[in-house]
Amino acid sequence: MTTHQKNNDRAVFATKFAAIATTVGSAIGLGNIWRFPYEAGIHGGGAFMICYLAFVFIIGVPVLCAEFCMGRQTRSNITGAYNKLAPGSKWHLAGYIGILASVLILSFYSVVAGWTIEYCVSSMFGSLDFSDRETGHEQFMQLTTGWRPVVWTVVFLLCNFYILMRGVTKGIERASYILMPLLFILLVAFCINSFTLPGFTEGITFLFSPDFSKIDASVLLGALGQAFFSLSLGLGCMTTYASYFNNNSRLGKTAVMTATLDSLVAILAGVIIFPAVFSFGLSPEAGPTLVFEVLPFIFNQLPGGVVWSTLFFLLLFLASLTSTISMSEISITFFCEEKRMSRKKATIVSSLIALFGGLLCALSFGPLSNFTIFGHTFFSLFDYLSSNICLPLGGMICSLFVGWVVDKRVIRNQFTNGGKEKFPFLRMLVFCLRWVCPTAIFLIFLNSIGILTL
Ligand code: PHE
Repeated sequence: MTTHQKNNDRAVFATKFAAIATTVGSAIGLGNIWRFPYEAGIHGGGAFMICYLAFVFIIGVPVLCAEFCMGRQTRSNITGAYNKLAPGSKWHLAGYIGILASVLILSFYSVVAGWTIEYCVSSMFGSLDFSDRETGHEQFMQLTTGWRPVVWTVVFLLCNFYILMRGVTKGIERASYILMPLLFILLVAFCINSFTLPGFTEGITFLFSPDFSKIDASVLLGALGQAFFSLSLGLGCMTTYASYFNNNSRLGKTAVMTATLDSLVAILAGVIIFPAVFSFGLSPEAGPTLVFEVLPFIFNQLPGGVVWSTLFFLLLFLASLTSTISMSEISITFFCEEKRMSRKKATIVSSLIALFGGLLCALSFGPLSNFTIFGHTFFSLFDYLSSNICLPLGGMICSLFVGWVVDKRVIRNQFTNGGKEKFPFLRMLVFCLRWVCPTAIFLIFLNSIGILTL
């Protein structure tokens, strides 16, 4: 973890900017560019988009605030944070849901991050050819079936391990100060290019005009899961990061900025993908493969496409790394602080667990593709379980905990930095944490298991 100054033997980010940059670095990743378009695609576009944005701002921002509050107040890992705020209670068990979720996510996330490395390398060596629809799909299949995903998943996990082990997180974070804005610029450029595509209007209509009749249980649950996934929320990641914030960081502002930038990047990804989907006659419902099949078509019709695509997949790979580092941090701090392991040992143990999960997910595209549990391969099961169940559940518990159990003075103190700053939204925040967020999440859960029909 970034060591800028020592505070009770724990690292603390030196500046407010570092706090924002690392949380945004964790939030922005494959969730925005890969997962958002495919989820929006299978859930009807506009209907999904509107639910997603509503959940980000009505549920996501308050829960993000709650996680920040727990982290900076206790300066602990996720289970430690619950324990310090409610000693002797059972609340800390919620921390284990978060740790489980982080392992599940890291497992399937590494497979997709592995695809980005493979696409980057293939495009650098000019071996990607996407001149027609068949080729796009076939290339994807060729690049991602059999044993190849296993190799690239391991390569990705090794990069993650190397960074965590060498303690070069600082370097990666510094690099991301430049690379993330670069990714953003690239996305804006591709967005502008979307305007020139023949399917622009169709794509934009699909994404932005909501057909409310399409909103059903699966859209609601999918959008809720996506909001949590994209904000790295509900598993203690933001609690862990906030435990490194310095005392001047403004929690409310950091939460709103993270949510805004994160959704902006997701929207940009949508504006890039859907016009291309309709222009090239592809289906928006392709699922997890969508972005990898569509993007190369876009690069193909751009002058200097190889350069664009190499750069893009490289940046996407780095954005994935800043996210997986934050996921790994959850179990590493847990093992260090609760199980008294050295940081090195904790890193090795968490990486080995991730490697095991990663292999199961990677094999879902090859030898284990016919092995399903409840109709899901390991890859899709891990995704569904973590994003749609563990994260909203973890978020609901965290919201109830901060809303009802944590002393209001602690919350006020955290949001006003000990009375130094103004925070006029305190009552609203507590109201949301007590009532709005838990009720909304609970109703969506009931709805998705068919107990409550809307
Ligand atoms: N938010 C990250 C993304 O959008 C994924 C993530 C989930 C990171 C959970 C940390 C924890 O890619």
